[in-house]
Amino acid sequence: MEKSLESKFAALKAQGLSIDLTRGKPGADQLDLSNALLSMEVFSQTPSGVDVRNYGEPLGILEARTLGASLLSAPVEKTLVGEQSSLLLIYQLILANYLFGLKTPWKDQENLKFICPVPGFDRHFRLLEDFGIEMLTIPLTGSGIDMKVFNALLQEHENIKGIVCVPRHSNPTGDTYSDENITAMLEAGQSYSEEFLFIFDHAYLLHDFLPSPDQTPTWELITRSGAEDQAAVFCSFSKVTFGGGGLAFASAGMPVFNLLARQRASMIVCSDKANQLRHVQFLKDQTGVIEQMKKHAEIVRPKFELAFAALDVVNPEIGTYLKPTGGYFISYNAKRPIAARVIELCKDVGVLITPAGSTYPHFYDPLDSNIRLAPTFLGMDELKVALEVFVTALMIAHQEAA
Ligand SMILES: Cc1ncc(COP(=O)(O)O)c(C=O)c1O
Repeated sequence: MEKSLESKFAALKAQGLSIDLTRGKPGADQLDLSNALLSMEVFSQTPSGVDVRNYGEPLGILEARTLGASLLSAPVEKTLVGEQSSLLLIYQLILANYLFGLKTPWKDQENLKFICPVPGFDRHFRLLEDFGIEMLTIPLTGSGIDMKVFNALLQEHENIKGIVCVPRHSNPTGDTYSDENITAMLEAGQSYSEEFLFIFDHAYLLHDFLPSPDQTPTWELITRSGAEDQAAVFCSFSKVTFGGGGLAFASAGMPVFNLLARQRASMIVCSDKANQLRHVQFLKDQTGVIEQMKKHAEIVRPKFELAFAALDVVNPEIGTYLKPTGGYFISYNAKRPIAARVIELCKDVGVLITPAGSTYPHFYDPLDSNIRLAPTFLGMDELKVALEVFVTALMIAHQEAA
């Protein structure tokens, strides 16, 4: 190891750090933006006359459905409010297809497959793995999925049941899919099979922190392509109000919507309507949500800018990344197969980074190259140190692999 790197690494280690850069969680100052929710008086009746203290309204109170529908640009009657987790709603949709299906239950079919853009969200992979669904990976281009690979997979494979993707500020790459990309995907998937399921996980729908590409609402693209009956769009307030304490929404064409609602009806009588009303009272409408997200952006942007400044000094021969303009992550690609080693070195110094391979199905990154950085949770001082550790570890691992 180069002497200067060696002494820098030793000096960092001597600090006895304990910093967690793993999960994309909002910082405490972001959570403070929603403190009013903790002490807010919630009315017992909704404006539409529903008693939020009792059972009923399994699809959610009208006011919350209306808010979700406006965010997803979808019709209210095709939008439901779940509990606090969009991941849970996606899980329930896969389960519903597995048990019942739009035509044939997936459980009665063999060799189930799904298309997964990579690097991607580890929990999408875990979810599909739970059902024994084979994951066919597809690269991202910076503005969506690689359509050449998508078309080739459709040609090559039978029984692909659908795709799960994050079309805005994708986790972790930051891809915002172009309208052309989404439309091409919708057209190719529909031609492949009328049961091909499009799952759009809009976890970062409103989470811009820098000027971001314009995007036609996904629901509108779905409708224009005639793909309503095989599509569902999800979002949540997990990173709008409280992580794991917000509301989750799904909009879907009627067959998919009914399938999801039927599955949910076996699991839960209704979700927490008081929390739904509390959120409506707090955020009010789409404009209220957008205003709240501007406040998040003010807090999050300096953290990403700090990270960009630290990463931009690294020689591009060591690794590269695309600057996200929203979302919660930076996806760093080392040129040499050193991701696991970098993360090990960071851990040795007391900085935890998401395990290598997490952004690929079965934790297998074939190039051992991708590292997911999550800058939002830390304060600026800790983040600065964590990035210094990361960059030092990167340089050391790169030299070692020469
Ligand atoms: C792409 C993506 N989808 C879903 C989630 C989880 O959302 P929720 O809290 O609504 O389940 C996350 C959170 O990290 C995410 O990155």
